[in-house]
Amino acid sequence: MSENRENCGFYGIIGYSARMKTLYRVIEKVADTDSTVVIYGESGTGKELVAKTIHLNSNRCRNAFVPLNCGAVPRELIESELFGHEKGAFTGAVNTRIGRFELAGGGTILLDEIGELELPLQVKLLRVLQEREFERVGSTRTIKADVRVLAATNRDLEKAIKDGSFREDLYYRLNVIPLVIPPLRERREDVPLLIEHFMNRYCKKRDRKPLIIPKETMDVLTAYPWPGNVRELENLVERLLILNDTGTVTTDELPERFRSNTLSKEFPVNNLPDLPQNGVNLSAMLNEIEKNMIIQALERAGGVKNKAADILGLNRTTLLEKIKKKGIDIKET
Ligand SMILES: Nc1ncnc2c1ncn2[C@@H]1O[C@H](COP(=O)(O)OP(=O)(O)OP(=O)(O)O)[C@@H](O)[C@H]1O
Ligand SMILES: [Mg+2]
Repeated sequence: MSENRENCGFYGIIGYSARMKTLYRVIEKVADTDSTVVIYGESGTGKELVAKTIHLNSNRCRNAFVPLNCGAVPRELIESELFGHEKGAFTGAVNTRIGRFELAGGGTILLDEIGELELPLQVKLLRVLQEREFERVGSTRTIKADVRVLAATNRDLEKAIKDGSFREDLYYRLNVIPLVIPPLRERREDVPLLIEHFMNRYCKKRDRKPLIIPKETMDVLTAYPWPGNVRELENLVERLLILNDTGTVTTDELPERFRSNTLSKEFPVNNLPDLPQNGVNLSAMLNEIEKNMIIQALERAGGVKNKAADILGLNRTTLLEKIKKKGIDIKET
């Protein structure tokens, strides 16, 4: 295996930051094993891309790579989606249908958003991982599972174990090799490279000239916290290419969230409260500040969570978790 584009990435994965290079080393080591890997990362960081890269660099590459988003399939259908069903197994099972584990035979399955899998299904999955066999819903015939299992999640599974929504035994069985993709804001040096990558890709596809991005604009883009990570960046490049007609991207062409980010989003360090004489309960204080900021952002955004998340430089899922935990109740107006 080798890196591509003069050390700017690893197969289709772009990034030359130290954190990404570490990730490439781990991918290289795990790819050609049959070990289970859990890929952790915020939304849009490239979890599926990394899973596919692992598959393509394994000896299973000639067989199927089958992703399944466990969070997107209705609860009552997920078992049949994973393991298939026999005709008549349940109302609506008009024909026999093979599941994703069978489809991925000889290849790799990606169980995306594994944290969303319900407890009874977690038990069934654990059995497949241990015994390497399963049955279709409504059948007693056992089928061998020659499948490599990769899982991905943007949830903290250890926390999910603590609150009882994820089984500890499954966690240890899955988490043989954990792989963490850092959010884009923790590897800002990759931002210009990724912009160039997507720009060239779209321009090649549409036979266009790439846009010029002056240093001032690139500085704003690099300073932005990218709550939607690489996906958000990819969408921005596409949007700029559609809307720009001068060939050069000025800062005022960037969407509002980028412009308001520049200085106002920096933390006002000269505005900090003094440490009280008799000390302070730091967690309680930070908690209060956090709650207050979230309430203000929600009010400013008219209760629209996506907008409030942008204002706070958080991704939507993180904001939703915080709102729930802190019992904040502000509805869309
Ligand atoms: N490092 C990268 N280099 C090039 N493209 C990337 C990189 N990271 C992500 N992408 C691209 O960004 C988009 C989002 O990536 P992907 O779907 O793999 O993210 P994800 O972590 O699975 O997101 P989600 O949690 O929302 O499912 C894809 O088009 C992918 O090809
Ligand atoms: Mg994904």
